Amino acid sequence: MTDQLISGFPVRLLDVDDLPACLALARDREWSPEEQKWRLLFEVADVYGLDDPDGGLAATVVATRFGQEITAIGMMLVAKRRERRGLGSALLRYALDRSGTASAWLTATTYGRPMYERMGFRAIGECAAYAGEPTGLSRDVSRPAEPADLPAILALDAEVFGAPRGALLTRLQTVSARFRVVDGPDGGLAGFAAAWSSLGETMLGPVVAQDAATARGLLSDLAREVEGPVRVYIDTTQSELIAWTKEHGLSHAFSTTIMEYGAPLPTDRGRLFSPVMLAVG
Ligand SMILES: CC(C)(COP(=O)(O)OP(=O)(O)OC[C@H]1O[C@@H](n2cnc3c(N)ncnc32)[C@H](O)[C@@H]1OP(=O)(O)O)[C@@H](O)C(=O)NCCC(=O)NCCS
Repeated sequence: MTDQLISGFPVRLLDVDDLPACLALARDREWSPEEQKWRLLFEVADVYGLDDPDGGLAATVVATRFGQEITAIGMMLVAKRRERRGLGSALLRYALDRSGTASAWLTATTYGRPMYERMGFRAIGECAAYAGEPTGLSRDVSRPAEPADLPAILALDAEVFGAPRGALLTRLQTVSARFRVVDGPDGGLAGFAAAWSSLGETMLGPVVAQDAATARGLLSDLAREVEGPVRVYIDTTQSELIAWTKEHGLSHAFSTTIMEYGAPLPTDRGRLFSPVMLAVG
């Protein structure tokens, strides 16, 4: 607990006991109440909240720190009854001031983008969501990851993402993640990808690969193992991966703007085809 106030509302770091209040706030903003996702966020991130004197939470924001380099911002929510009085920007400022990293990353809805721009975030691209039941998949070149692959997965991921995501990638088991890898010619990995569950859908991501053909193969092999609908978020510069979604019957669901803050992101976007999830990068 803390006595500090933001715009008159007590701010504090939330924990898993606050999960019901977080889900209630998400519902208030017509976001899905993704319980497993919030549980993962409580394990790997700083979840900040403003207590509402009338009960529940007035606002949340989640800051996931990757080394000294990048903080991913997600779950920026302000209760409808409390919006447009500066709570969102003040809570985000509070989280950024405590992150201590050179850069921050987020993907913005059309609601959030003007606020982020005023705070100094810069639009650097677009991330599109595709969803549906995949069809016409054939077997490709990947294999299931084994525990011994973890160091190579983390090494490739750090090289491409530009910061260490080991805590996040190892905690993805919270959402029942399955990993697949493609072996490279030199004993390293040419790519890896994961699939995990959320609210009756299988999320495909992250996808990290040396080229689009490897990324497409990883997606095909992951999607072949899945029953029911899948969802994948794709950097729209990755046209060959977007073509994969169309070839396999997925539809465009929505898009968000990729934004950076502070120093330019060290991420190699040419090899980072899909994030783990929009809330954490
Ligand atoms: C996006 C969101 C977090 C913004 O929260 P917020 O607390 O309303 O944000 P702020 O009050 O800091 O800024 C929003 C607007 O209020 C205005 N504002 C800020 N303080 C104000 C005040 N004292 N009086 C009147 N207006 C004010 C801002 O200028 C801004 O105006 P604009 O939208 O026309 O540019 C909130 O609308 C929300 O939860 N939306 C749904 C979920 C969502 O899309 N989240 C973003 C995910 S990327």
